Amino acid sequence: MSSVKVRSNVGAFALITDTCLMHTTPSRPWWRHGVIYQVYIRSFADGNGDGTGDVAGIRSRLRYLRDLGVDAIWINPWYPSPLNDGGYDVADYRNINPEFGTLEEANGLFSEAAELGIRVLVDLVPNHTSSDHRWFQEATHSPPGSPERERYLFLPGKGPSGEHPPTNWDSVFGGSAWTRVPDGEWYLHLFDPTQPDLNWANPAIRAEFRDVLRFWLDRGASGFRVDVAHSLDKDLTWPDLGDDEESHSTLEGTHPHWDRTGVHEIIREWRAVLDEYPDSMMVAEAWVANWDRLQAYLRPDEYHQSFNFDFLEQPWDAEAMRACVEESLEAAGSVGSIPTWVLSNHDVVRHATRYALPQDVNAKEWLLDGDRSLLDEAQGLRRARAAALLMLALPGNAYLYQGEELGLPEAYDLPVEVLDDPVWARSAHTRKGRDGCRVPIPWSTTGPSLGFGTDGAWLPQPPVYAEYAASAQDDVAGSTLELYRAALHLRKEHLVADEQLAWLDLGEDVVAFRRGSGVVCVVNFGDDPVALPDGEVLVASHDLYGARLPGDSAVWILES
Ligand code: NOJ
Repeated sequence: MSSVKVRSNVGAFALITDTCLMHTTPSRPWWRHGVIYQVYIRSFADGNGDGTGDVAGIRSRLRYLRDLGVDAIWINPWYPSPLNDGGYDVADYRNINPEFGTLEEANGLFSEAAELGIRVLVDLVPNHTSSDHRWFQEATHSPPGSPERERYLFLPGKGPSGEHPPTNWDSVFGGSAWTRVPDGEWYLHLFDPTQPDLNWANPAIRAEFRDVLRFWLDRGASGFRVDVAHSLDKDLTWPDLGDDEESHSTLEGTHPHWDRTGVHEIIREWRAVLDEYPDSMMVAEAWVANWDRLQAYLRPDEYHQSFNFDFLEQPWDAEAMRACVEESLEAAGSVGSIPTWVLSNHDVVRHATRYALPQDVNAKEWLLDGDRSLLDEAQGLRRARAAALLMLALPGNAYLYQGEELGLPEAYDLPVEVLDDPVWARSAHTRKGRDGCRVPIPWSTTGPSLGFGTDGAWLPQPPVYAEYAASAQDDVAGSTLELYRAALHLRKEHLVADEQLAWLDLGEDVVAFRRGSGVVCVVNFGDDPVALPDGEVLVASHDLYGARLPGDSAVWILES
């Protein structure tokens, strides 16, 4: 593929803008262009055959990740936890869940990964603890008004005997955001009742988390993915919320618990800690109203970067995708930051399946009882491969979710008996939840869990996963795994030296741009083939039709 030349009559194509987004500096930090691979530890690789992924499993696959070409991994929460919310219910921030391994093994992982040139990001969960955390146990065993309760958000209820919750706020997972304890007070939990929200107005909480940051940085972590980064600051004097206000932050930062201005003071405290550790970074998971709100999180003394969920939410449409890329580059650039690009994670339907559905179908809702005949899996995979080349050609850094390099689809037909996500129960079985994107990785085509471990897997893998196994794609020309490997290596060679991007006009169904090195990325969102500029084809998501790019495909060309 890499030596193919294309010649066409589109030699000089229109240049719309020539945007030099940011200056290249010799000291450009790694995270401005790195590729970070998300490891959902429970489902990545099972090193001890108990059906659950673990630290040993990650260590056994580090060479695979090095060969794939990633710069860093982000590991979802690995702390001691009852796993009521997949580990986002932390019982101890300074240890490893025995189901996943030991602190000693984690130390081994940090050093082995470093030897292979892979950085490790840890998941920080500051909005809530598990109800198993010592602090919450102390709080519920102490009287109202005690310092132990001050670590969380306890309030008396409404009504003559306090029998109604303090506000009508809903939890993200469904049901009330308040639960009552035996002495009559209520505590806030924006997620599951086993995830009580911490009181960030309490200086002891702030000191504790600064120390937790140091704990992991001292062990070798390169930084943090920060959970629910737009929460923390809360106004409990707030009146009830209207139906449409519940889950949305506001443009003014006036929502009682999402994206309030006070959160920035906390972020600055963390940034000061990270600045003591050269080359470390933190990335925010902040679902806020728009880029105007998001860019505040990216100011030079706050987060290094934030997930760009806008990109993930775009329909398969050239105009929408291009507008999103433009806005992201401008907004992040205006505060000296750079966007991230992400297509999938452990909370959303895998993009190979999202792109397999008609545009007007909401994939999350479809999981529950949607018409399966709407699914066009070949189209989904084809678009997913093209989207990967788009994402990996953009300036900024990319987040890959484990299994996307295999083209893995959502395990959309998991039997309800195996569902583990609290969303399923809390929504009274009206939302199927996120298990379908968390099914263990198929490493080989046979075996009780397709090479995930030596025995079964904590969530069943659909039989079709055997076809996507890493071993079935390894060294196979044209496989999705080889496409990702090629793209990641070519990216290092051609696309990370600068942050320049110039848009090209190749038609309304096409997103096309030239990077500073002269590599042109062309993505055809339409049905009709598109004529390509002259040059050497570096990588393509689909066979070209001579010098034309078929629909639902992408290519990188080194201009001649
Ligand atoms: C966001 C995480 O990505 C999600 O998995 C989790 O359920 C919530 N935060 C609560 O921690």
